[in-house]
Amino acid sequence: MSKIKTVFQCQACGYSSPKWLGKCPDCGAWNSFSEEKQSPKPLKSFGMSELQPLSKIVGGREKRTLIGIQEFDRVLGGGLVNGSIILIGGDPGIGKSTLLLQAVAKIVGSQQSAVSGQQSNPPLPPFSKGGRGGITNSKLQTVLYVSGEESPEQIKLRAERLSIDSDNIILLPETLVENIINAANDLKPSAVVIDSIQTVYTEELTSAPGSVGQIRESAAKLMFFAKRSEIPVFLIGHVTKEGAIAGPRVLEHIVDTVLYFEGDRGHPYRILRTMKNRFGSTNEIGVFEMTDEGLMEISNPSELFMSERPLNVSGSTVIATMEGTRPLLVEMQALVSPTTFGMPRRTSMGVDFNRVNLLIAVLEKKAEIHLGGMDVFINIVGGLKILEPAADMGIISSIVSSFREVPIDPKTILFGEVGLSGEVRAVAQGEARLKEAAKIGFKKAIIPKNNAERLKGDLGLTIIGVKDVEDVIENIRI
Ligand code: TYD
Ligand code: MG
Repeated sequence: MSKIKTVFQCQACGYSSPKWLGKCPDCGAWNSFSEEKQSPKPLKSFGMSELQPLSKIVGGREKRTLIGIQEFDRVLGGGLVNGSIILIGGDPGIGKSTLLLQAVAKIVGSQQSAVSGQQSNPPLPPFSKGGRGGITNSKLQTVLYVSGEESPEQIKLRAERLSIDSDNIILLPETLVENIINAANDLKPSAVVIDSIQTVYTEELTSAPGSVGQIRESAAKLMFFAKRSEIPVFLIGHVTKEGAIAGPRVLEHIVDTVLYFEGDRGHPYRILRTMKNRFGSTNEIGVFEMTDEGLMEISNPSELFMSERPLNVSGSTVIATMEGTRPLLVEMQALVSPTTFGMPRRTSMGVDFNRVNLLIAVLEKKAEIHLGGMDVFINIVGGLKILEPAADMGIISSIVSSFREVPIDPKTILFGEVGLSGEVRAVAQGEARLKEAAKIGFKKAIIPKNNAERLKGDLGLTIIGVKDVEDVIENIRI
């Protein structure tokens, strides 16, 4: 085999040099060089190159396979799309290998469940019906689990802990991507798992595994394998201190779906979150609990997040938020205390810091709650992140409750957006949020007036519609 020549190319401007450089002489970027093949062979296309009028294309062509873990299937948009490539990122030790080993065991074991009925299928996404696509779980046989991090013995230990044993899970301790693809081509498995992409390298580049060029080339090769063979490939990726999937962000562009497996090491629950999905919605989450026997699905996360809530403590409120299509009740806590020196500190975990500052300003101006000499800390319990503005009412109420040291009734939930002039604005899906609250046993809901007016029927809750911040403050002080 002839040696493939490589060059170092600036990732910012494309300048190339035969040697690695710390600073690009052309654009001045630092540490931007990575090794590339000099004249990459044109990659073979995967049969999509004819001209086609849009109207002639049959929709819903993707074939899906259910993994059998409902939380996982839902996050993927209703099952695993054949030939898709899925990146799962997360901190070391969070449970990525465990999740995938359990998924793999379900995939090879789901032959029986397909025969015995489809009781556990999640709702099908609309685009999976009709066309040549649809959900199949008939031709599942083997799964190839490639591990560059752990030996087969270590994987066996984990499998024993999870009570997983199967002839159809084939382990391959290998890191050379060409060998992995050859093995996969021979085996023709139903899915391939690469644990992890940072350990995989291609012999075409001389740089070390884990470097930008290596990760990109290897992922690109695996992608072409996936598209050509229609076999779905899972890539496990580590996350750097900054929170990005280590190695390049380029990986996120190459793959079809990016999932993050996150959670607090100190807490047992884990959240599988979609960051990008070419085959489904990006705001779904799956909730799991890490137990001694592996990950368990949590189909009612609200109950879990409520379980350790202190009652009758100031600064704690419960808000009803939406994660994708799913209502979720979470506890929000605020701690307001006098600043001991200098500038008051404002810290937020789980909600946008700027949003908290904005709401503090609204409180100062519209409700005359003076927080100038106060430190304000906000936290969402359980390591969740809430980005929607419906959390505003929760932030405001927790701050006021902590500031005045008056607890909020523990059977009350809140949601609603707060505007700059202190007005409370309606949010989407009010009814779904209220139903979830009623199900968990809440008795009272403080919600935007507009949402309250639109409600039909009795939900088993006392509904209080509020129009501005002052209204909110008045109603929480009971
Ligand atoms: P692992 O899947 O190895 O994490 P990752 O691949 O993301 O690095 O899981 C690591 C942690 O999970 C480890 O600290 C032990 C814990 N764990 C359990 O608590 N219960 C279990 O059943 C298993 C298999 C692991
Ligand atoms: Mg691992």
